[in-house]
Amino acid sequence: MNRFNGKVALITGGGGAIGRASALRFVEEGARVVIADVDFERANAVAAEIGADAFAVQADVTKPDDCAAMTDAANARFGKLDVVFANAGVGGEKTEFVDMPMEEWDRVIGVNLRGMVLTCKAAAPALIHAGGGSIVLMGSSTGGWDTILGAGPYMTSKEAINALARNLALELARHRIRVNALCPGIIQTPLSFRQAADDPAAWEQFFARLAQRIPLRRVGQPEDVAASVAFLASDDARHITGATLLIDGGQTLQSWSNAPDTAYPSS
Ligand SMILES: NC(=O)c1ccc[n+]([C@@H]2O[C@H](COP(=O)([O-])OP(=O)(O)OC[C@H]3O[C@@H](n4cnc5c(N)ncnc54)[C@H](O)[C@@H]3O)[C@@H](O)[C@H]2O)c1
Repeated sequence: MNRFNGKVALITGGGGAIGRASALRFVEEGARVVIADVDFERANAVAAEIGADAFAVQADVTKPDDCAAMTDAANARFGKLDVVFANAGVGGEKTEFVDMPMEEWDRVIGVNLRGMVLTCKAAAPALIHAGGGSIVLMGSSTGGWDTILGAGPYMTSKEAINALARNLALELARHRIRVNALCPGIIQTPLSFRQAADDPAAWEQFFARLAQRIPLRRVGQPEDVAASVAFLASDDARHITGATLLIDGGQTLQSWSNAPDTAYPSS
């Protein structure tokens, strides 16, 4: 497929696992990509892996000037911007609500939610200038369908992204810009299991155990998410805006009554 021939895509958090897989997918389908990340080394490694169709830019999405600079860089290097994948995010420290330092709340909301707003504010004029485009916001299945004990800021930020996608979709429709949220369940990346990122055996064991709790009996891979990002960003989704796409192997179908270890009768 060459759904992105002649298109330019900006990916925030592009040096991370899902960012990298999405960048590779966009380029495979004909795009040129701007890999933005607060961690320049990670962004640059992805850009180097891709070659001439990519370049890296250091950008912290909590800083308006950095967000302006990354969209300016897309214009300067590739002449325009068509697609924005607002993907940068942090997991946050596990903290019980009553003990939670407000600095942690502000930090996680600052990157995951405010950072997305700043990204869109900076990028929207470029998309308008290009005559339209597509924005994909990275949410999470944990926002809206589920929650995790001790992760209030993360849960709240991800749920709010679904609302942001709907509002931006309406605001930007007249400029022919589509905005959708993508909500993955657990994906096999270091963000899901930081403790074992450097321990291959523990890493495999952890995700194998999780797979048993997912109805499709597999853990999502960054490439699974990349395929959905590409779909939402492409003309195949030209009549889809303000939507939230859940991609979780059925993880969130397991309500209390359907949990694998439930004693609740199934019929
Ligand atoms: N891994 C999962 O299970 C999962 C599930 C649902 C949603 N997500 C979301 O997917 C996105 C990517 O996650 P991932 O698993 O690839 O994690 P990752 O840690 O591999 O990638 C996140 C990237 O964001 C970058 N980043 C962090 N703060 C930033 C900032 N202020 N400005 C710019 N870049 C910043 C990091 O440097 C990193 O490269 C996140 O928004 C995450 O919440 C992940």
